[in-house]
Amino acid sequence: MSTLHTGLKGKVALITGSTSGIGLATAHVLAEQGCHIVLHGLMTQDEGTALAAEFTTQYQINTYFSNADLRDPACIHEFMDAAVEQLGSIDILVNNAGIQHTQDVANFPIEKWNDIIAINLSSAFHTIQKVVPAMANKQWGRIINIASVHGLVGSANKVAYCAAKHGIVGLTKVVSIECAEQGITVNAICPGWVDTPLIGKQIDNIASDKNLSYNEAKYQLVTSKQPLPEMLAPRQIGEFVLFLCGGAAKGITGAALPMDGAWTAQ
Ligand SMILES: NC(=O)c1ccc[n+]([C@@H]2O[C@H](COP(=O)([O-])OP(=O)(O)OC[C@H]3O[C@@H](n4cnc5c(N)ncnc54)[C@H](O)[C@@H]3O)[C@@H](O)[C@H]2O)c1
Repeated sequence: MSTLHTGLKGKVALITGSTSGIGLATAHVLAEQGCHIVLHGLMTQDEGTALAAEFTTQYQINTYFSNADLRDPACIHEFMDAAVEQLGSIDILVNNAGIQHTQDVANFPIEKWNDIIAINLSSAFHTIQKVVPAMANKQWGRIINIASVHGLVGSANKVAYCAAKHGIVGLTKVVSIECAEQGITVNAICPGWVDTPLIGKQIDNIASDKNLSYNEAKYQLVTSKQPLPEMLAPRQIGEFVLFLCGGAAKGITGAALPMDGAWTAQ
């Protein structure tokens, strides 16, 4: 359990892609603070309703679940309207949902490019555009974009992912400047390797190409880029989100903050 930030009790946090990995861990960290939680991600309505009920029972908070497809701006608007109708506001927005596809640029499938740009970048524009006026009215808001170390540096075979993540860093900077006088902070977290399903396929590929066990391949993937020879736990990103929501972080805005085991220090 993290330190209790009393000011966050009763605030409403919407975390995109919170049915898995970093988003789910972040939802737990914020729920522990007494935040009401909008859960979102690709699972069936029944599974999502069950997940939301678990949160309600465990943390005594209000919850709402949506499986809106972030590739469709109309779905995003509909989902966010419904969330506000159910929970009253959105005070903390965590743009976290993301996908990956690795291939060289010459062979990169156009539909993968379009999906990655839509989910990892454009969806954050739509959600931010939707929440900023109400946050400005309240003179309080926290927007945290889960970018990546790939928002700061490139890697081969990740053309769409790196373009989207560099884009979200730019989006973060502009919105932070526009919102600086409105009590809204806007930051990007740039993690290195985090132990979630998102990177499973990359590990599988190394394991089969090099005839390694899953764990050997995982170690090789991490140490190929990151001096710290271990993956972060999803919850560590959630704790960083929490810090950015707290009073001590009031002056941090417009930042792209690496949490990358010295990857970008090289
Ligand atoms: N895992 C890592 O090593 C790592 C490192 C740096 C940054 N990140 C970023 O962190 C974020 C979360 O990644 P994760 O590793 O937890 O991944 P994950 O695969 O565990 O979770 C991704 C979430 O996004 C949702 N999602 C995917 N496509 C969607 C769509 N079309 N519409 C709606 N929701 C959709 C999924 O349902 C899921 O909830 C991503 O933006 C990712 O780029 C991950």
